[in-house]
Amino acid sequence: MKADMTKTLAERAKESAVYLYGKGVLRPEIGIILGSGLNDFADRIKNPLVISYNDVPYMEAGMVSDHRGQIVYGEYKGKKIIIFAGRFHYYESGDMQKASYPARVMVALGIKRFIITNAAGCVNTAWNAGDLMLIRDHINLSGSNPLIGPNLDEYGPRFPDMTYTYDRDLREKLKAAAANEGIMLREGVYAMFSGPSFETPAEIIFARTIGADAAGMSTVPEAIVANHAGREIIGISLLSNMAAGVLDQPLTAEEVNEAGRQAKETFARVVDLAIEI
Ligand code: HPA
Repeated sequence: MKADMTKTLAERAKESAVYLYGKGVLRPEIGIILGSGLNDFADRIKNPLVISYNDVPYMEAGMVSDHRGQIVYGEYKGKKIIIFAGRFHYYESGDMQKASYPARVMVALGIKRFIITNAAGCVNTAWNAGDLMLIRDHINLSGSNPLIGPNLDEYGPRFPDMTYTYDRDLREKLKAAAANEGIMLREGVYAMFSGPSFETPAEIIFARTIGADAAGMSTVPEAIVANHAGREIIGISLLSNMAAGVLDQPLTAEEVNEAGRQAKETFARVVDLAIEI
């Protein structure tokens, strides 16, 4: 798809949204971004409308690190859901606007609730690999921000408040719903590093010292954009591995994917609850 980059970011996002609308993506209420190893969740939507990123104006599928690169839309649990399976990581382009573009499109589609998921390293030494964590707050260590550049006044103010980025009421409801089903759901602070190299042990000690419980390479760009537009956000991390230096062993991407496979059912149940509450 030819991209006219002379258009403003807001115009581009609108055009992407209008394209999706034309394909039958009608008034989705909930938008889900799936993290590494967690794409299988998209298969839960029955009779979905599947659209390749390649076909959407201004979405560059080549930027997606896993192969999926699909938008999956349909009814699930009585709600209209749109899923972005395959993420534009910041480390792929060094461009925060690209990293947050799906969130922009979701805002343009009128999505009210964002469920943003990721795999992350577990920084909190009292917790375990395989645990799920609800994001209470984040620390942006990427060195950048998706709102840099002219402010899009139609989205939100120049200096958006970040005090309640991860919706408080929804967190309380989700914790109660998980506890009710005997699911252990941690709650903590997510620190975003740019990647793609994993953190050093010293960086993880730093992250822990400044209050982080998890370290990862995503989520923050999308959360900042959704929050700028005043949308509800639920953030869920699968703590796929103990972060660097916690155990005396190297980290591998394979370990991250394996944790995704193992925690798949519980992860899916927590996302279900995040849709239901
Ligand atoms: N660090 C950063 N990102 C990650 C990790 C990690 O340890 N595990 C999964 N994603």
